[in-house]
Amino acid sequence: MSVNLKGRSLLTLLDYSAEEIRYLLDLAVKVKAQSKKGEVNQRFTGKTLALLFEKRSTRTRCAFETAFGEEGGHPVFLSTQDIQMGVKESVEDTARILGRMFSAIQFRGFKQSTVKTLAEYSGVPVYNGLTDQFHPTQVLADIMTLEENFGVSAGKKLCFSGDGRNNVARSLMVISAKLGINFTVITPAALNPDRELVETCLSISAVSGAQIRITEDRAEVGGADAIYTDVWASMGEESKKEERVQLLKPFQVNEALMNRTGRKDTIFLHCLPAIKGEEVTAAVIDGPSSRAWDEGENRKHTIKALMLATIPGCAE
Ligand code: CP
Ligand code: NVA
Repeated sequence: MSVNLKGRSLLTLLDYSAEEIRYLLDLAVKVKAQSKKGEVNQRFTGKTLALLFEKRSTRTRCAFETAFGEEGGHPVFLSTQDIQMGVKESVEDTARILGRMFSAIQFRGFKQSTVKTLAEYSGVPVYNGLTDQFHPTQVLADIMTLEENFGVSAGKKLCFSGDGRNNVARSLMVISAKLGINFTVITPAALNPDRELVETCLSISAVSGAQIRITEDRAEVGGADAIYTDVWASMGEESKKEERVQLLKPFQVNEALMNRTGRKDTIFLHCLPAIKGEEVTAAVIDGPSSRAWDEGENRKHTIKALMLATIPGCAE
């Protein structure tokens, strides 16, 4: 086995090679099959996991907590409303202490710099469970779901219609560039992803063969294997809601947009939670093309694979 991820953090996915991402996706498929067979494993026995949350979560928290706990690990939920970090104690000092008590740390919150500092000072693997900038564990589940429907993702066409500068769109761009997925962001110019990340992804795609496109033209969904969307105002951006509704209304994923792919087998993806009637209609997300619920389940399998691969001493 040439891939060894023991001790590695997952902060942005930018520092993971295509081979390492492939390894995590293949391990997630194996872990899911084990779960479906009812296999009981205890690969996290004796391990501990700190789950730090500044922002709300259903899927990410439950995926980490159940994946770790059901295999003998001890997860500890730490809301930043309750702990000293950011009030009486620096992120650095919190990281130093957590690193003495936990085998790994998950952080969900606002700043990317917080999760980076936790990784620098704790000495254990740190997982970004969503920041304002990236949502890397999400996109592992998204690509796993795409592959469950269409096989290997390289060369497939994935379109994101909505807030092109948000954490999910940015992370989809990164994983697509790495894996050779043709990724089109369909968004108003005011919400284009930042130039720096686009340039980075374009240079990565020169190696992988991915086509990365940013456009306002909804006709670009033509031929898409999957159409993806996310909320119009992310957590922490509630004050921008009205402005976003005006900007993004034309980018709603509805049956008319799904039909514009010209394919009957295009699937719909959404990281969830969804606001039905805004970024997606109920007819689409609750309809036959939707794979959003499989995608939500796959959060658990991909997160278990990530922890098995990176926590030292765990058998994969
Ligand atoms: N997709 C996702 O991260 O969901 P939660 O906010 O419920 O964790
Ligand atoms: N972009 C959304 C994703 C939620 C999983 C947010 O940050 O709120």
